[in-house]
Amino acid sequence: MARKHNFCAGPAALPESVLTQAQSELLEWRDAGASIMELSHRSAEFQSVIELAETRLRRLLAISEDYAVLFLQGGASQQFAAIPQNLGSQSRAADYVVTGQWSKKALAEGGRFVNTSVAASSANDNYSSVPAFDSWVLNPDAAFLHYCPNETIGGLEFPWIPEATAPLVADMSSTLLSRPLDVNRFGVIYAGAQKNIGPAGLALVIVRRELLGGASESCPATLNWAVAESNQSMYNTPPTFAIYLAGLVFEWLENLGGLEAMAAINQRKATMLYTLIDESSFYGNPIEPSCRSLMNVPFTLADDSLDSIFLAEAEEAGLLNLKGHRSVGGMRASIYNAVPESSVHALCDFMQDFEGRHG
Ligand SMILES: Cc1ncc(COP(=O)(O)O)c(C=O)c1O
Repeated sequence: MARKHNFCAGPAALPESVLTQAQSELLEWRDAGASIMELSHRSAEFQSVIELAETRLRRLLAISEDYAVLFLQGGASQQFAAIPQNLGSQSRAADYVVTGQWSKKALAEGGRFVNTSVAASSANDNYSSVPAFDSWVLNPDAAFLHYCPNETIGGLEFPWIPEATAPLVADMSSTLLSRPLDVNRFGVIYAGAQKNIGPAGLALVIVRRELLGGASESCPATLNWAVAESNQSMYNTPPTFAIYLAGLVFEWLENLGGLEAMAAINQRKATMLYTLIDESSFYGNPIEPSCRSLMNVPFTLADDSLDSIFLAEAEEAGLLNLKGHRSVGGMRASIYNAVPESSVHALCDFMQDFEGRHG
């Protein structure tokens, strides 16, 4: 078996030790006589799994009891529709900041349920920067302000957290758990699991409890956060295996030293890659340097006719999933938590070698 260097944007690499542990417990979890996948979500065994996963997540992010932690079905996109239905029933107005493809999608879906306004957008500079906060136009009646702190496709990341009077709602799909975070600044944090949390099929929602209970009449029960909260994320059958695996990932993070330790590793990985790109005239990154993503590093070749050769040779060298998103082209290396520093070293070595031969 040869696991290769995996730079996929999602579903992304998982820690090898987590996969090994899951493998060792696959046929029989502890002494349950069955796999965790084969046990009732109401069983004492699964109860202990979901409770421990939540405890670990709360410890990692210092989440207080003022917040509910929900493990939900579906991905982040489902939350694009859940957010306005849970928060927008009174004011029916909401502000959105658009800094790339994902916040654009959230805006489009939000518009099906509430009156959306674009508080700020960086469309004019092709989503290569974060609009200065003093240029934002905020609606005082907005039920919430939505933004995407890390745009996975464009590789654009907010270097600061907005100050808002309306509850701040953040799509943290591709940044949550990459570093410490002050959860108290947010009304709602949500994320699809398939980057830094676990396998696809699970979404995490961390919501300030005082925001629960105001969902619109027409909000489906499966999207209603208050229903999820009062049923301990088990209004219907939850994605049990994904929650189990997320729990193992949280344990892995705690054993590593928590999010401070993870952040230091992530910073080293990103610095290594951006330094190589910046010191070369062969590679480029279009994002304003202060807004570059720690997790998703898009890059272009000065001669884009070499793109397909780059990708083919990279794959041959054991470097997988470096093709940029179909909407932007070029290359993208996603260097999430579970991508080890050795993989980024291998990528940098390959890029230097490729430049030497083709530059
Ligand atoms: C920032 C962000 N938001 C939302 C999504 C959509 O997630 P899902 O496919 O889980 O619905 C993604 C997926 O990559 C993402 O990166």
